[in-house]
Formats: sequence, C-alpha cells, structure tokens
Amino acid sequence: RASQAAQARGWHLYLVGGAVRDLLLENDPSNQLMLHDIDLVVDGFHQSADVGAGVELARELQQIYQNSRLEIHGAFQTAALLWHKDPELDCLWVDIATARTEFYPYPAANPEVEASSIRQDLYRRDFTINAMALRLTSPHGGELLDFFGGLIDLRSRKIRVLHPNSFIEDPTRIYRGVRFAIRFGFAIEQRTAEYIHYAINSGVYDRTVQENIKTPALHTRLKAELKLILQAPYWQSALKLLDQLGALQCIHYTCNLNYGILRELVLLEKLLKIQDRFWQPAQQLPPTWLIRLEILISSLEPEYRSKVAENLQLSETSVNRLKKLEAAQVEINRELATCELASVIFNLLQKYDSGTLMLMAVKSSREIRRKIWYYWRDLVHVQPLLKGDDLKKMGYKPGPIFKQILDHLLIATLDGKIKTRTQAIELLT
Ligand code: CTP
Repeated sequence: RASQAAQARGWHLYLVGGAVRDLLLENDPSNQLMLHDIDLVVDGFHQSADVGAGVELARELQQIYQNSRLEIHGAFQTAALLWHKDPELDCLWVDIATARTEFYPYPAANPEVEASSIRQDLYRRDFTINAMALRLTSPHGGELLDFFGGLIDLRSRKIRVLHPNSFIEDPTRIYRGVRFAIRFGFAIEQRTAEYIHYAINSGVYDRTVQENIKTPALHTRLKAELKLILQAPYWQSALKLLDQLGALQCIHYTCNLNYGILRELVLLEKLLKIQDRFWQPAQQLPPTWLIRLEILISSLEPEYRSKVAENLQLSETSVNRLKKLEAAQVEINRELATCELASVIFNLLQKYDSGTLMLMAVKSSREIRRKIWYYWRDLVHVQPLLKGDDLKKMGYKPGPIFKQILDHLLIATLDGKIKTRTQAIELLT
C-alpha cells in the first residue's frame, strides 16, 4: 500500500537500512529475520517541501491502517507508524523518512538526480551493510541499490564504515559496529578499526563529556546501544571487543574491562541462575542489562559513578543506588563481618533495595555473599506470627505500640525463639 500511495504521487519509495541487510542475510543461520523495525525512505522530489513527502505518505497510510499510531518528527521530516500489540503484527514500527534533497543540483525526475538523492541518503549512514536500498516503486521495483559495496561486505562478512569521520561524528556507531560484528560473526574491517582507534584517541567523546557540553542526544543513543548489547545473548563477547577497541572509554575515560569486573559479571550470571531456580526476592530485581551496566559503572572511582549514570540518563533509582553504593558497601561489610544473628542481618539488609544487594553480592567476599543469600532465601519473607487483629483480640489498644510488639515478635521469629502462634501469644502474656 505504501508503494502504491507513493507511486500514485510520482514519488519513489525505498526500503533501507537494517531491513534490507536482514532480508539479504535471511538464509544465514547467524541471523534471525526480525522485521519489527522497518525503515522506508521516500523521495518526493521537492513536491511537498513544507510537510515532507515522508510525513504526507505516513498520514495517508494511517488513514488506511487505522489501528496504527502516527508519530511525526517535523524537524527531520520523518514520521513513524506504530502497530502496538496487534494480534497479527505484534509490534511493528515503520519509519518513513524523506530523502534528503538539499544536495540536488536541480529538482527534476532526471535519473541522475533521482539516483543522487537516495545515494546521498544512504551515504550518511553508518556501515556499507546498512547502506543498501530496495526500490519499492516502479520502474525497476525490487531493484537493489548498492552504491558502496554492501553486498560484497555481507558476503565476505565485513563491517566497513562508509566514511572516515563517521565515528567522530557519532561515537555510538562504534558500539553499533561491535554489535553487528558479534551478532553476525563478522570482522571489523581493518581500515574501519583504524578509524575507530583514531576517533577514540582523538578523545572526541571524552571532551564533550568533560567540558560538560550538553550532549543529551548522544547519551540517549549510547544508553540505547548499551542496553541492546547488554541484553543480547552475545553481551560478553561484545563487551570484550568494545574493551579491546578502547571504546568503553565512551562511558568514562577510566572505564575498562579488568579482571575484577569480569569476575563480577560472571558471578552475577551464576547468582541470577541460582536465584531464578530457588527463590524470588521480595522486591523485583532491576533488569539484567541494567545490573550489568551498573556493575561496569560501579567499577569506576566513587566520585565518577553518579555523574556517569546521570549522563547516561539512567533512572533516579539507579543514580541513587550508584551514589550510595560505597557507603552501603562499607556498612554491610562492617556490620555483617562478625554477625550471625538472623534478626541483625534482616534489620540491616532490609534497608537496601534488591539492586543494591545484588551489586553487593557480586562485590563482596564469599562470607558476606552467603549472608545476603541467607537473607533473600530464608529471612525476607518472614512475617510476625500475629497480626494487628490478634493484638486487638488480646486487649491491646491500636497505636504505636502495635508496631513495637509486631517488630519484637518478628525478631523472635527470625532468631528462632518462637515458631508457632501459640508460642507468640505465650511470649506476650
Ligand atoms: N543508522 C546510522 N547511524 C546510527 C544509527 C542508524 O547510520 N547511529 C542508520 C543505519 O543505516 C541503520 C538505519 O539507520 O541501518 C536504521 O537504524 P536502526 O533501526 O537503529 O538499526 P538497524 O540497522 O535497523 O539494526 P537493528 O537490526 O539492530 O535494528
């Protein structure tokens, strides 16, 4: 329908980016075809300069597909149609951008101009394998436009950047390159690796952070890339490759993957597996990708942690967790080192959220880890053996005393002094 609508206006429509790459990789076992995110580019030849051909086309499609939601990003002349939780389509996101026409020497349906418009659009992209287009309108519908050798690179399994300044303009492309390399089992082509080193050594990313220039868009993209990498099954290899390339410096100039962090990350995997099999913490854990990221950030000196988390636009909870982690570590290590009493362990650890406790578990000694475990498995769900109603029946008047009594009963229960309601009533009488 999109190509019919474009065709009716005399426009050209192309499928571009990752969807073309994934279609071409369809028979490759390393790729699972997932067309959840489709990028279209429409070339409207200046005919709707105010609105943008992409926006106009998206509006028409939304009229046809009324179960979709339309989002318009005016400044970039792009629109998106979103089908959310549609029973048949699950979740489908179609971006419709207007081909950049500013480099046109003159507006016309001249084939040269026509080719230069989509070529220009593809040239501003990241890697050759992502810079191919499939023409969806006639004439030549179904034709693959591959100006930069994307197909050859797909076949020879190479990640090749399109232009030398690409990583300087957008350092998150380093993360994208690594993600594609590991996901598809491709190699980062030698020149591309050199450009990555050059961008990192030039400290371009670092400077923007240090000088506190506001770069929220860059950080939003970096966070999105980190999330994609850290939640993928191949996160470990991707992280190692990022480290080899020195690209973890994009998080902070002191960030690298030393043995200690690797150990903590591996330990986290073990703990999550055990936790999954044997018990549920009372409070839900943060998503795994976020715990991994917080482990990385918590490997930095304490004074950098919350700033890095803020830059990455992590939630307030995450920022606070990282801000208070050092103090928590000191307190937990000091208090738990010599203590075995369940009620003391309970009272200390209940002050902390599950994310902090998980970070503590991977960072502490085996002995402390065992106590955190004990708390999670055996203590966290323990309730006082009596309730407020029981106390009323026993003649107590509701008030602050209730809390004191119930706390007292909880401590006695945790420490194994009472085990039944009868014993609880006896203790109070
Ligand atoms: N792109 C780019 N530079 C970026 C991000 C995106 O050039 N920093 C371009 C690439 O051509 C990419 C397209 O925009 O193919 C769409 O980006 P996106 O949807 O984020 O990625 P995909 O390539 O579709 O990959 P994925 O399979 O991970 O969604």
